[in-house]
Amino acid sequence: MEFSTQTTASLHQIKTAALAVGVFSDGLLSPAADVIDHASNGALRAIIKTEFKAKPHTHLVLRDLTGVSAARVILVGLGKQDSYNAAAHAGAELVFANYCANAGLTEGVSALAAIECPNVKLRTRAKATAIAASRALYRYDATFGEKREAAPKLKKIAVWVARNQATEAQHGLREGRAIGNGMNLTRLLGDLPPNVCTPTYLGSTAKALAKEFKNLKAEVLGVKQIEALKMGSFLSVARGSYEPPAFIVLKHSAAGKGSSKKAKAPIVLVGKGITFDAGGISLKPASNMDEMKYDMCGAASVLGTMRAVAELELDRDVIGIVPSCENLPSGRANKPGDIVISMSGQTIEILNTDAEGRLVLCDALTYAERFKPAAVIDIATLTGACVVALGHVNTGLFSTNDELAEGLLQAGREANDTAWRMPMDDAYQEQLRSNFADVANIGGPPAGAVTAACFLSRFTKNYPWAHLDIAGTAWRSGKDKGASGRPVPLLVQYLLNQA
Ligand code: BES
Ligand code: MN
Ligand code: ZN
Repeated sequence: MEFSTQTTASLHQIKTAALAVGVFSDGLLSPAADVIDHASNGALRAIIKTEFKAKPHTHLVLRDLTGVSAARVILVGLGKQDSYNAAAHAGAELVFANYCANAGLTEGVSALAAIECPNVKLRTRAKATAIAASRALYRYDATFGEKREAAPKLKKIAVWVARNQATEAQHGLREGRAIGNGMNLTRLLGDLPPNVCTPTYLGSTAKALAKEFKNLKAEVLGVKQIEALKMGSFLSVARGSYEPPAFIVLKHSAAGKGSSKKAKAPIVLVGKGITFDAGGISLKPASNMDEMKYDMCGAASVLGTMRAVAELELDRDVIGIVPSCENLPSGRANKPGDIVISMSGQTIEILNTDAEGRLVLCDALTYAERFKPAAVIDIATLTGACVVALGHVNTGLFSTNDELAEGLLQAGREANDTAWRMPMDDAYQEQLRSNFADVANIGGPPAGAVTAACFLSRFTKNYPWAHLDIAGTAWRSGKDKGASGRPVPLLVQYLLNQA
């Protein structure tokens, strides 16, 4: 996919298969729509009066307008002008990108990013254009006997902006393309079935990324090495399955543009990589259990983010860590009541084998200490309770560090991939008390997402730490079941802001 800018004032003379212009539902035309309206002798205003309400997520195709060189003008509904924001803009871009992809077009021109939007910079709007294109182009086709539909042919999107804004837009497009590519990797890994996307497969993906990008280095540790590291908690989950676990470490080295400065400490991302979560001996109910193939979406978002960071040649060291295994019931699986010894030395009483994510993450969080990180952010489909609390809109953010938390919240707003901060008062820690070990792996029904975060916090005392619970945001269920690619936009934006 190629992205470019178009800066001619004579929008109506641009030759393209499809030109997108925005219209507000209060009848107000965007500046681009106004240009087209004038060039076509008021054709747009006439149509808007009668047959286009300009509601969000709607469009109208106008062909062969007199006075306009574009073969089609796509009117894109923007909703009310006073509620136009980053999400509305991203939605409008997606309408256009989907139109181009589904109509079999090879190129198009979008004038949507030129529309002013309160608190959203042009760079961010251009970024959204590229991200929408990558969404429209994503097709899962890895496991069909017969290909269900032809792949979209869309190759080029140009963004129409004022001449003095072209550079800013190009920066945004470059970032958006990298984020979009990262999201599509994250989507694919999430959507692949659990008998294909195994821990070994995630390890191979990390190695393939390191081959493709010279600034990435991958290391995949197997059982022997994991044992040598004394990751007794992670291994206790892995042991229940025949599928071998993998402990993946993927390192991005700063591009070195600022090599005269002292290198900043790395930022470490830790992703939960449970490639299937049956619950173990605390077996889950059968309905929708297939969706537990998505229990590696934290890992997938780490790999997708590392891909984006590498493509952008980010000037900051970033390390991705993925503890990966399956959580299955078997004769060797964890049992409720088992006590395991984590890499940190803390003992854990396993009261529910389905609270396995924290058991694999805690050892990875201890491992992260060796990098003397500036910050560690873990990303995990950790709790059903987080879905109850926040639904599918916001990712749950938990942190003991206000500065880190604010940075992540801000990045989420900037990237239209929002998170919501949840409390972590010490009082919640009491729910994790065990009569037989240093800590229990569950805290009972109240505040399940919070006590899960509290559990993790016990392994993160030596660096600033934040936890993103993406159980509600990493994929969607139902008819359009599929991975979302979140929170790659939030993470890449945060890293860009730290570089
Ligand atoms: N992977 C699940 C969390 C999950 C559940 C994500 C549903 C998305 C949708 C996690 O391993 C889990 O099973 N958590 C338990 C914790 C409980 C046993 C304390 C849960 O949320 O029920
Ligand atoms: Mn579980
Ligand atoms: Zn799980």
